[in-house]
Amino acid sequence: QTEPEIRKGLVGVVADATAISKVNPESNSLLYRGYPVQELAARCSFEEVAYLLWHGELPTPEQLSSLEAAGRGQRALADNVRAAVDLVPTTAHPMDVLRTAVSVIGAADPAAEDSSPQANLDKSVRLLSQIPAVVAYDQRRRRGQELVPPREDLGYVENFLHMTFGEVPDAVVVDAFRVSLILYAEHSFNASTFTARVITSTLADLYSAVVGAIGALKGPLHGGANEAVMHVFEEIGDAEKAEAWLEQALADKRKIMGFGHRVYKHGDSRVPTMKAALDTLVEHYDRPDLAALYDNLEAAMTSRKSILPNLDYPSGPAYHLMGFDTATFTPLFVAARVTGWTAHIMEQLADNALIRPLSAYDGPPERHL
Ligand code: CMC
Repeated sequence: QTEPEIRKGLVGVVADATAISKVNPESNSLLYRGYPVQELAARCSFEEVAYLLWHGELPTPEQLSSLEAAGRGQRALADNVRAAVDLVPTTAHPMDVLRTAVSVIGAADPAAEDSSPQANLDKSVRLLSQIPAVVAYDQRRRRGQELVPPREDLGYVENFLHMTFGEVPDAVVVDAFRVSLILYAEHSFNASTFTARVITSTLADLYSAVVGAIGALKGPLHGGANEAVMHVFEEIGDAEKAEAWLEQALADKRKIMGFGHRVYKHGDSRVPTMKAALDTLVEHYDRPDLAALYDNLEAAMTSRKSILPNLDYPSGPAYHLMGFDTATFTPLFVAARVTGWTAHIMEQLADNALIRPLSAYDGPPERHL
């Protein structure tokens, strides 16, 4: 009898097909529904990209208006969700707050159990609209600030920043935030998306799948890395110390946050676009010190290990410059990736098979009492 082959971490396993995105590490490209993500980041609004991920095509002006109209009316933080957020102590991580809030949003939806395509699209729009309200309010309450109500006259990105900071920042900041959300929106069968598909495959509702995905994204090997990058920057302190810090960290066998990737081995295709956005922020906020630290750590890491930065490396310091609290970075990733998660949930459901792999048993042989 041949031993079953075990692929630890499912490395190299193709679990299913998807039409939503294509990651090609050889050509170093990432396509959303066929479009290079760099082109989408250069030309599209975040709402257009959400529509593309859900429907497979970019929206006509009428389709975009109707998506925007549906979303704008649902941006306010509902009283029950606000109450749930307030119940969670500020000692808890903002990802725990967001996970709880999404659970409450789902539990309060009378159509939660309706998994028809239209109902799931409606839920996706609702989550897209309400997650910024939760993230913005949570950061504000931690700072002792009042809730800022949404503005229906603003686009998604501007309104998100308005609800967080009480004002719409300069165009350069709005644009860098828009780019980051588009780059974070979708990435094939990453751990959180796969989690959402596993949950959906049991025919559980969309909200359950998104709550599970938030849990998977929290870890520092996945979405939690953007926050962890900023902790590394704070630990290092200034650019001159980056090389020595890295030597010690590698000697201590630490994983360097923001570097490496399971799929990309020659560089993350999203990094140049996000790095360009970070550069505009560095100039806008006049922070050459941060740019120098970024460059020195990257140079030290690539010369010592040949391990390249991933998207979290430039997005962490970019969110810091925009004024977000470090613990809010991964919830921002949720706000973006919920578009990809829900697209995958709907795709999984359209052609479902229960995801249930096998395991090889290596416990004690059969024995008896
Ligand atoms: N720092 C130090 N060593 C590393 C790193 C790193 N960031 N990444 C990989 N390596 C080493 C690893 O220790 C291993 O060395 P050895 O062969 O001597 O044991 C070798 O490179 C191969 O790595 P691996 O563990 O087989 O790679 P993986 O595909 O299992 O891991 C990863 C991918 C993302 C978990 C890992 O690179 C990592 O832990 N990176 C830091 C966390 C991070 O930035 N995560 C964000 C991922 S991308 C975007 C996202 O999901 O948010």
